[in-house]
Amino acid sequence: MSASLPVRRVFSDYRPSDTALEFHKTLHRFRMLCWGIKSGKSRAGAAEFIRATLSKPNSLNWVVAPTNRHLDASLAEIMKVLAGMNLRFQRMRGHKRQIIFPNGAVSQLQSAELPDNLRGPGIDGCIWVDEGSFMTQEAWMILRGRIIAHEAEVLVTTTPKGRDWFYEELRLGGMPADAPYGEFYKGNRWVSHRPTWDFPWVSEAEIEDARRSMSTGQFDQEFGAKFMAAASQVFTGIERALSLEPLPAMFDGDTILGLDLGKNQDYTAVVVMTGTGRVLYVDRWQRVDWNVTKERVRNLAKKWKAVVVMDLSNVGSTIYDDLRGEDFELHGVTMHSPDVKNDLVEALQMAFEQSSIELVSPKANWATTVEDALIAELFSYEAKLTPGGRISYGAPKGLHDDLVIALALAQWGRVRGMASAGTVGQVILTRQEMAQLAREPTEEADMRAMGRKFSRFTRPPRADGGRGRPRSIFGGGSKGGLWS
Ligand SMILES: Nc1ncnc2c1ncn2[C@@H]1O[C@H](COP(=O)(O)OP(=O)(O)O)[C@@H](O)[C@H]1O
Ligand SMILES: [Mg+2]
Repeated sequence: MSASLPVRRVFSDYRPSDTALEFHKTLHRFRMLCWGIKSGKSRAGAAEFIRATLSKPNSLNWVVAPTNRHLDASLAEIMKVLAGMNLRFQRMRGHKRQIIFPNGAVSQLQSAELPDNLRGPGIDGCIWVDEGSFMTQEAWMILRGRIIAHEAEVLVTTTPKGRDWFYEELRLGGMPADAPYGEFYKGNRWVSHRPTWDFPWVSEAEIEDARRSMSTGQFDQEFGAKFMAAASQVFTGIERALSLEPLPAMFDGDTILGLDLGKNQDYTAVVVMTGTGRVLYVDRWQRVDWNVTKERVRNLAKKWKAVVVMDLSNVGSTIYDDLRGEDFELHGVTMHSPDVKNDLVEALQMAFEQSSIELVSPKANWATTVEDALIAELFSYEAKLTPGGRISYGAPKGLHDDLVIALALAQWGRVRGMASAGTVGQVILTRQEMAQLAREPTEEADMRAMGRKFSRFTRPPRADGGRGRPRSIFGGGSKGGLWS
């Protein structure tokens, strides 16, 4: 058998579906199928893996599946495709789980149950990951490491499982954040997102039967290949907030700018929103000098005539001091207190539930990549229960939440009417500080509780002369009439 085997003509009884055909034909190095069950992903993956292996003599190739049980199914598909090919492969090394092809290419089968077992020499042929969503992000990172410096092809075929690493890969491949069906490509990635009913081999009756026998959520995920909101997804009603209304080129009304400063690996994120909840501008940047960041914030605040709300934790308080005294209004929130962070996130959650927020839809052709990234962050943002039983909010491991936090800061300021406020240099108190005030509602106690902060900043006037409950600043702190 020659090295330049005309492998595309070797397939005999394998007849790909129309979408599978696109998958086989496209030359992108990373190709991902996110299809419903029984759609033929494993069959297509096996066929493409064999094609890739046969087209690269003496190469090392890997088949990876999340567990041995999954791996057996993947192997079965490889055997089925091989059986219909009139191609006699040289050897099957069962004990080593290797198939040696006539051109000297080696295919190694490996379960990803213990991610460390995925380490090894560089792979220069092809990696096929079947049911990839059930594999951890760590396993995926290790596999990625094995193709660095090699031009290996990477195939991933799987049903989705929430907004995990695989969803991120599809996003990198050009799939918009709201995950419509279709084929997309970007850079060296090509991705396909399809429900089972797009493929001919599962009858409508069978699909209807499945629909009745499982929960809607399960059906949508398994057959619809939908990225389900995990039980822990924080923001619901995101779709309702997505707008195709063109953005105004200029905006004269009240605006508020949420600023989340980046630490080490993170971005500095900025969200500008109108007093009525329409997001006008989103941006983020990374690894720039703090002076550059300050200058950008100044310019944006002036350009949009915005009130700025920023996080005071870490470098925040220093930057806050540097930004004060400019001709824009500035507010600080101490977000490293979990209570404050939770308040902010829950206020944003409420805004989505009550449809009081409007964002550029990723479908709009004027949507920027950063606006699209914000939508993706919102979808993947999650709530976890700490061992201590409190709710902790954040992005899944390895993903960002800077844009979400900038949006939450803007929203927090907005519902407190700051977009049109007139005082300069207010500091929003933490929940504990407010609780303390509520216990000792005297002028003196106010001063004590606010302590250092208020000696540094102009004290906001209190409607009741400082004697009342914290409601005058906090607006009730929960589900009041503010969230209209
Ligand atoms: N190209 C194809 N031609 C004919 N039947 C197919 C094809 N691909 C898949 N099928 C049928 O669908 C079944 C499921 O395919 P499989 O690849 O295991 O699906 P998935 O991995 O998406 O769950 C196969 O056993 C076969 O009966
Ligand atoms: Mg399969």
